[in-house]
Amino acid sequence: MSYVIAVAGKGGTGKTTFSAISVSWLVRNTGKAVLAVDADSNANLDLALGTRAEKTIGSIREYLTDNIKNLPAGMSKETWVEMLLQQALVEEKGFDLVSMGRPEGPGCYCYLNNIFRRYLDIMTGNYDYVVMDNEAGMEHLSRRTTTGVNVMFISSDPSVRGVETALRIRDLARELKLNIARMALVVTRVRNGLPDNLRSIAEGANLEIAGAVPDDDTVRDYDEAGKALSELPESSPARRAVEEILAAHVKTGSGGG
Ligand SMILES: Nc1ncnc2c1ncn2[C@@H]1O[C@H](COP(=O)(O)OP(=O)(O)OP(=O)(O)O)[C@@H](O)[C@H]1O
Ligand SMILES: [Mg+2]
Repeated sequence: MSYVIAVAGKGGTGKTTFSAISVSWLVRNTGKAVLAVDADSNANLDLALGTRAEKTIGSIREYLTDNIKNLPAGMSKETWVEMLLQQALVEEKGFDLVSMGRPEGPGCYCYLNNIFRRYLDIMTGNYDYVVMDNEAGMEHLSRRTTTGVNVMFISSDPSVRGVETALRIRDLARELKLNIARMALVVTRVRNGLPDNLRSIAEGANLEIAGAVPDDDTVRDYDEAGKALSELPESSPARRAVEEILAAHVKTGSGGG
């Protein structure tokens, strides 16, 4: 069974930054198989991890839908789908990456979608850790059928509106009956620790607070230069804060969770 970490939250609140730091932390600290899933249709986790995903699950689905009649001779549909999906997997040193791309459109080709889901479940099951960088709408999460999420970090900027959005995401996840064992708030880009009023709002609504990530020029500089956030130096306050949160919330051989 893989241990699944999901990152959700309002746009621009540091989900991809958190995800990229998580992937490199897991690679360094566990030595286990790690899969990064870019579940944001406006994908950019690949860049944050210093790589490129040329194909997405979505683009392959579209290709298949258009070419379902051109199945190579002697090949079953299932084998063909698996072969094509394999092309969406980017293999890097220490981790693999898959980009979901655009979600299924309204013209549902159910047969294909079922193969896709089953295959994705099998694929993610092959890894010890899965890190999913989500979009605020949680489109992809709500489509995951069998596998659960061990911990979902909900990111927020240091604002009342941000924390209220985080609460709505928590409530939506509950409403959709998503299989998520634990949800916790991460307030990013704080200037002087976690503001008291934001702490009170989260506590008053029974949302666990995982921690706060300081506003960090290193992150900005790296993004500006297009450098991988997974390579942030150990001196980066944001990296340190994220790693502390991970150490306290993620189950590894050496504790946490
Ligand atoms: N701790 C931080 N300190 C300073 N800047 C940060 C920090 N975290 C993120 N940023 C900046 O905020 C912006 C958004 O970060 P990021 O892409 O990680 O957020 P996101 O939630 O994934 O956004 P989106 O919703 O667009 O996918 C980036 O320009 C990044 O450089
Ligand atoms: Mg992002």
